[in-house]
Amino acid sequence: MITTSGLTKVYRSRGREVTALDGVDLHVREGEVYGVIGQSGAGKSSLIRCVNLLERPTSGTVTVAGQDLTALAGRGPRAGRELRQARSRIGMVFQHFNLLSSRTVQDNVELPLEILGRSGKERSRKALELLDLVGLADKAKAYPAQLSGGQKQRVGIARALAGDPKVLLSDEATSALDPETTRSILTLLRDLNRQLGLTVLLITHEMDVVKSICDSAALMEHGRVVESGTVTDLLATPGSELASALFPVAGDASGDNRTVLDITFQGESATQPVISQLARTYNIDISILGAAIDTVGGLQVGRMRIELPGRYEDNVVPIGFLREQGLHIETVEQTEPAQQTQQVDRAPSVLVKEEAK
Ligand SMILES: Nc1ncnc2c1ncn2[C@@H]1O[C@H](COP(=O)(O)OP(=O)(O)OP(=O)(O)O)[C@@H](O)[C@H]1O
Ligand SMILES: [Mg+2]
Repeated sequence: MITTSGLTKVYRSRGREVTALDGVDLHVREGEVYGVIGQSGAGKSSLIRCVNLLERPTSGTVTVAGQDLTALAGRGPRAGRELRQARSRIGMVFQHFNLLSSRTVQDNVELPLEILGRSGKERSRKALELLDLVGLADKAKAYPAQLSGGQKQRVGIARALAGDPKVLLSDEATSALDPETTRSILTLLRDLNRQLGLTVLLITHEMDVVKSICDSAALMEHGRVVESGTVTDLLATPGSELASALFPVAGDASGDNRTVLDITFQGESATQPVISQLARTYNIDISILGAAIDTVGGLQVGRMRIELPGRYEDNVVPIGFLREQGLHIETVEQTEPAQQTQQVDRAPSVLVKEEAK
């Protein structure tokens, strides 16, 4: 539904150059919720602004719903007719809502329809229908100042849907909201995705957002996509940074002569009592050092760190047993604590948040 290839954006101002995007290849399938995560300055907003051609990429192409937007003339507010039309089919939701304070809720939602030249009657019918869809039917005549943050974002979403878009782009739509309101907005986005078959590309710096609604995710660092895939595929990828940020497990061996394993559960395997089976079959004592289990896209997935007595060589058979159960197993080397510190350095916002729970 959305494909970028070799997307590059270099900002030039006062003789200085900043490469915000450095050859980004992204592929968002129709009907999925795709999350892009990364630290401040990684290029996430630049990416989303290039996808709807609010910014013109320095090089590379953007295709949305089969149309090469980079081939259409104009940029920003001076976009040509074809580009404006294409853009009206891409909804955009912002962190700070961007509502007009002098207009009522209904008039805010009608704004894009005015620009599209729709009649007054049609505008009002559509706006009321959308406000009903986002659960704000009773606020049509209110002004933005009379709404809570969550309600404002619902208006922002209704407005983004005015042109019947196939694609919704969201740049940190929930960053200004408290956790409970965040959840309700994410649920709304998920419902719209399902009800309307809307493809959603969202930018966030919160792992929880990815966990709760994304089918796929990409990690950006310094203008590049360093990892991407469906959440379940990422979990099955050895050494995936996104997977370990989504499901951080910690815990050190309790002494020498121990084997520490990280087990990834997903789908069927998540519901099997594998640990107790392992203990019974091999008559060994297993310690659980850490675990992070959650529901992603309706499937139970997660990781657990366990410790077995004896060295790796002594545990080849039990490890083989776990692998036979369809589990993904990684042995954790004794140098692990140092590696973990490194990871925290690389993605502090992500990991610190998880630890705070
Ligand atoms: N209009 C601009 N002119 C010059 N440099 C810019 C412009 N917009 C962004 N940049 C630079 O491009 C880089 C990427 O910025 P971008 O806003 O895409 O990051 P981000 O991942 O969205 O960060 P955040 O999480 O803080 O929103 C940064 O170094 C930023 O300073
Ligand atoms: Mg940004």
